[in-house]
Amino acid sequence: MERKRDGKVLGDVALFLSGNGRTAEVGFTLHPWARGHHYATEATARLVDYAVFDLGVHRIEASTHPHNIASVRVLERIGFLAEGIRREAYWVEDEVSDDAIYGLLAREWMSRRDQD
Ligand SMILES: CC(C)(COP(=O)(O)OP(=O)(O)OC[C@H]1O[C@@H](n2cnc3c(N)ncnc32)[C@H](O)[C@@H]1OP(=O)(O)O)[C@@H](O)C(=O)NCCC(=O)NCCS
Repeated sequence: MERKRDGKVLGDVALFLSGNGRTAEVGFTLHPWARGHHYATEATARLVDYAVFDLGVHRIEASTHPHNIASVRVLERIGFLAEGIRREAYWVEDEVSDDAIYGLLAREWMSRRDQD
């Protein structure tokens, strides 16, 4: 992610394709100083647009720690729906936590775009 006005690198947003390009997962991270401006929401929405309209992806997923409120809000603002919790599925070194799963279908994204 680069800021348009000065080209400064803010962080990264990634798309991982699977299922012969029909499904994908998104992930995002901002530098701490770049948080609080909805940059991740804007960049991830652009990437979803690209995935749906240019690549023809049918379903996009994301997973996050259930207590990661900023990440959950980014996903909810874009239109991802909470689909469930994978219990004790995410390990960081010796610590395990639940993993919240979010999903967005191409038709949901298209109908959201039509409403804007
Ligand atoms: C997740 C991340 C990219 C979001 O950054 P961001 O786009 O700048 O998000 P913002 O700071 O604008 O916050 C998004 C929303 O969460 C809310 N929020 C953030 N921290 C919050 C907190 N501690 N309590 C309540 N709400 C909070 C904001 O108010 C905002 O709400 P809004 O959309 O209703 O206005 C950033 O926090 C980050 O890089 N975190 C570390 C890496 C990470 O967790 N990545 C995701 C892994 S799945």
